[in-house]
Amino acid sequence: MNIILLGPPGAGKGTQARRLEDFYGFKHLSTGDILRSAVAERTPAGLLAKKAMDAGNLVEDKIVVQIISDHLASGSSSGGFLLDGFPRTLDQARSLDVLLSEKDMKIDYVLEIVVDIPVLVDRICGRYTCARCGKGYHETFAPPLREGFCDACGSMEFTRRPDDSREVVDNRLQVYTEQTAPLVAYYQGRGVLHQVNGMLPIHDVSLEIEKILGLF
Ligand code: AP5
Repeated sequence: MNIILLGPPGAGKGTQARRLEDFYGFKHLSTGDILRSAVAERTPAGLLAKKAMDAGNLVEDKIVVQIISDHLASGSSSGGFLLDGFPRTLDQARSLDVLLSEKDMKIDYVLEIVVDIPVLVDRICGRYTCARCGKGYHETFAPPLREGFCDACGSMEFTRRPDDSREVVDNRLQVYTEQTAPLVAYYQGRGVLHQVNGMLPIHDVSLEIEKILGLF
């Protein structure tokens, strides 16, 4: 089964993708995570991507399409995949169609996670992660059990994404509306789009997704 998780920044794409990977073994491909690793490792793609990411703009289509093409060519997704954060433009969607048709594959489900904008801003601006183990927290919704200490590894060092500041979040939301939202109609026209209420608690969003995918 090949799935795209679509939705604005903070909708919960990564959260739901990680749960689907953990519980059902889907191969999770997040272009955001791959690009952040490339930035941290200072690879050529990472150096090209950093400026756009820090400003909340999209990285060039050819860079992200190459990332997905490499993953598909590696064969690691031949049993099915879950795309998180890709495609993000109509050109990326068309490139994905070409890549998949070359491998006799197709997209089975596009899950659009729908969340109100003020909620998105709160979710993004309050989130942070443990610098050592990567466990995610939120200032209001999911603080550590013992203030200042990671529940999982006890580290006292935490980090925030540079693009999670208020100014950059506003731009990321605008970029989503202008460049990514048109994908809803694109996939609706193909009969694969399903809307998910992302305002529900995380567990209930997971249940909606599992129902759509026929997992229970
Ligand atoms: P990317 O990493 O993909 O970021 P994003 O799309 O902006 O999404 P986020 O990771 O912010 O949010 P999410 O929907 O995954 O939500 P999450 O589960 O974390 O991209 C970053 C950048 O990389 C882009 O701006 C761009 O520059 C570049 N890039 C990436 N892909 C690209 C592409 N294809 N083309 C060009 N450029 C690309 O949840 C957020 C918070 O809310 C968490 O704290 C979570 O715990 C909480 N939460 C989640 N669900 C719920 C819920 N139901 N109730 C309460 N809290 C919840």
